[in-house]
Amino acid sequence: MSGAVIVEDICKKFGKPSEPFWKRLFQSGASRKSNGNGAAAYGQQLTVSSEIDPSADAQRIETQKFVVAVDRVSFEVSRGEIFGILGPNGGGKSTLIRLISTLLIPDSGQVRVFGYDVVRQPVKVQQLINRVSVEASFFKKLSPMENLIYGARLYGLPAAETRKKIVEILLRLGLKERDIYHPMEEMSRGMQQKAAIARALLSRPTLLLLDEPTTGLDPRSKREVQAVVRELRSDYNTTILLTTHDMNEAESLCDRIAIMDSGRVVALGTPEALKHSLPGWKDRDVTLEDVFLELTGKQLKNNEEEE
Ligand SMILES: Nc1ncnc2c1ncn2[C@@H]1O[C@H](COP(=O)(O)OP(=O)(O)OP(=O)(O)O)[C@@H](O)[C@H]1O
Ligand SMILES: [Mg+2]
Repeated sequence: MSGAVIVEDICKKFGKPSEPFWKRLFQSGASRKSNGNGAAAYGQQLTVSSEIDPSADAQRIETQKFVVAVDRVSFEVSRGEIFGILGPNGGGKSTLIRLISTLLIPDSGQVRVFGYDVVRQPVKVQQLINRVSVEASFFKKLSPMENLIYGARLYGLPAAETRKKIVEILLRLGLKERDIYHPMEEMSRGMQQKAAIARALLSRPTLLLLDEPTTGLDPRSKREVQAVVRELRSDYNTTILLTTHDMNEAESLCDRIAIMDSGRVVALGTPEALKHSLPGWKDRDVTLEDVFLELTGKQLKNNEEEE
């Protein structure tokens, strides 16, 4: 069955990060002293308060630069597929995941999850998905068990079986029994990451969005998480979208991979097809990392050449 996730020509831009507060304060003060209208001139680089000069605000909107985080991205993920998104830091991967998970609204384009539109039917989408990100939030004074029970209740899962299921999943992910009842704040980052993954699995989502699920995990833990991802797909036909910086993980886990750079998908295919897209692949051992390095960072190189 196809069309689990359909992403059509989506764009998302953010305002450029502003200057630090102290710098803005200093510069707007200076501009007021130098000429009553100076704020408008600074408006090209700064977010300037309209109290200083109302005309500056209009000019800022016209001239403010934007970061295009996701730039006309389209792809389709099939039911039961494990789809990887690779890309350099700032390439747009997390923004894309957040757009699919209804946490952000696209500026243009469409995303449909099992036929539901993420903008018009967000609740329907939320019922089908779960997301794990590197900055998962927990009640740090509470244990993984308590945090996960809380999460399960939010999803309306029956209390009786939940405890048993939580222990089962956490042990499966390699957590020790005693850690399950210790405050989260006493756990390492990797252990917290496992608790985050376990929480996402509790609701047995039809679509699981994993944003760098194995970043910061030791090699054994990585394998444990990867095995759980595979199991999910084979047992429940779960569709999985994941981002990673680990090329081996992407290659061994993903059916297809999209490589993103500067908000755009620069290549999409099976790991094998991506490797075969490099010239001379027959004569040398091309790795996914070679493909990644070849396809990403081009904009950076071009900019350097222009300067
Ligand atoms: N909330 C935000 N406000 C402003 N800019 C943002 C915001 N979120 C992301 N960006 C910008 O959008 C671009 C893409 O960021 P994103 O987090 O999607 O990248 P990424 O591919 O996930 O990177 P990483 O590999 O480091 O996690 C970056 O330039 C980032 O600075
Ligand atoms: Mg990210």
